[in-house]
Amino acid sequence: MSKGLNILFCTSEVTPYSKTGGLADVSNSLPQELNAAGHPVRIITPKYGTLDERRLRIYEIKRLTNIEVPVGDKIAICNIKSSFIVSPKGKAQVFLIENEEYFGKSSPYVDQKTGKDYPDNDERFIFFNRAVVQVLGLLGWQPDVIHCNDWQTGLIPAYLKTIYAKDPLFHNVKSIFTIHNLAFQGIFPHTSFLKSGLPENIYNEEGVEYYDKFSMLKAGLVYSDAITTVSENYSKEIATTHEYGMGFEGLLKKRKKDLYGILNGVDYSVWNPERDSLLPFRYTSKELPLKRENKKALCKHFNLEFNAETPVIGIISRLSDQKGFDLIKNAIPEMMKENIQFVLLGSGDKTYQKFFEGVKKKYTQKVGVHFGFSEELAHLIEAGSDMFLMPSKYEPCGLNQMYSLKYGTIPIVRATGGLADTITEYKNGKGNGFLFNKYEPAEMMKAIKRALKLYSNREEWIKLIRQAMAYDFSWEVSAKKYIDLYRSIMKKG
Ligand code: ADP
Ligand code: GLC
Repeated sequence: MSKGLNILFCTSEVTPYSKTGGLADVSNSLPQELNAAGHPVRIITPKYGTLDERRLRIYEIKRLTNIEVPVGDKIAICNIKSSFIVSPKGKAQVFLIENEEYFGKSSPYVDQKTGKDYPDNDERFIFFNRAVVQVLGLLGWQPDVIHCNDWQTGLIPAYLKTIYAKDPLFHNVKSIFTIHNLAFQGIFPHTSFLKSGLPENIYNEEGVEYYDKFSMLKAGLVYSDAITTVSENYSKEIATTHEYGMGFEGLLKKRKKDLYGILNGVDYSVWNPERDSLLPFRYTSKELPLKRENKKALCKHFNLEFNAETPVIGIISRLSDQKGFDLIKNAIPEMMKENIQFVLLGSGDKTYQKFFEGVKKKYTQKVGVHFGFSEELAHLIEAGSDMFLMPSKYEPCGLNQMYSLKYGTIPIVRATGGLADTITEYKNGKGNGFLFNKYEPAEMMKAIKRALKLYSNREEWIKLIRQAMAYDFSWEVSAKKYIDLYRSIMKKG
């Protein structure tokens, strides 16, 4: 057997320490799968706010305290703490970067009071990136590959190719950069660039400059040895159209031979109704009456009357334009004419929150809403709903549609990005959900109506549920693709 690779996985969120979306799930489950395949992975991430260090078993590493990290003219102090994520796959070490000024705030990117990005996000993530590179020299462990994720880690490949290029410690260290969401581009003024300590000669169109601004996303895209994104379809979309490339389509086209689409996987030790400890009733595809018991619990939670004939359509989502909420907003009057109940768990954009509060008031008997972040309720919605709605404007991968399949909760999705790679229209006994193409409320309604029609045919619906539950999106295949890619970039000079 060939020698395992050492991988450093850099991420701005990872469960159970922090989470705003799917990146946190992926940052927990992919490293464990890589570890299980014989490749020692260490994860490095900021430690936000005040975590319960005892419960999460976070420990100080004495020799890794008071490390000095330059941020512009300042010297910021960094402490590294250690913890382990443990799952049936094994365990992976996590290094948590602590700095009160930058990460003392409990939310990763957005001030919960104002709903706006923290004004010092430039310094916070310059600090994180620089600390990662600096700390490596002190760990006594050399990675073969540094795996970066999204703009919050975009400077790391740039540091490796510039100020640390001659450092023997980084000789032969390769980097890959995974795009989870191109809409977040880490754009700051030139003054922020100056704080990064990167050489002035890379502040141009070929380097990190993006329309007279500094883009930390662009740094990752330009300087990494390979770029990946989280589905095959999205990798094509972003390199061909402005709509999906969001200004980076030209650069991505240029780097096309280094751009790979690798579908995210699901951690079935967390998202599986058979073993889900957060559910009132666990079930398999042979025990669907127990799924119905979860539906009763879900209705009760939202104060809705349970009715077997009335399908519950669920949503768990960041409240953002990406997720197609303007379509839903437009379609609500039409939707409410149907025999459905609708439950939503979401956090984010306050205007959508206001809108759905209004919907709840108007259609009290049919609608349940919960604003905020709740892991427990997310699992109950997956299990208790009959259908899961995800009409995204764009979707790099999407995890909830895959979770839904496992819970026998039929996805109704827009055919975009990873949604199109994982969901196929149920027709003539084949497929696993319902899709629409054009980003229009009427098109979404047609897909919903097709789902409702099938729901009224109990026998067919059960057949579809069983079929959906049999889909397997576990990490094994995708993790292998990452390993092959790590090996291939290591061969490059
Ligand atoms: P994205 O990363 O774009 O938000 P994904 O579908 O990849 O979309 O992942 C979303 C993840 O975040 C899922 O694990 C989902 O259950 C979770 N999630 C989103 N909003 C909430 C919420 N309000 N409460 C609990 N979990 C949520
Ligand atoms: C992003 C994307 C989502 C993807 C997740 C994890 O937040 O919006 O589609 O599943 O990252 O890769």
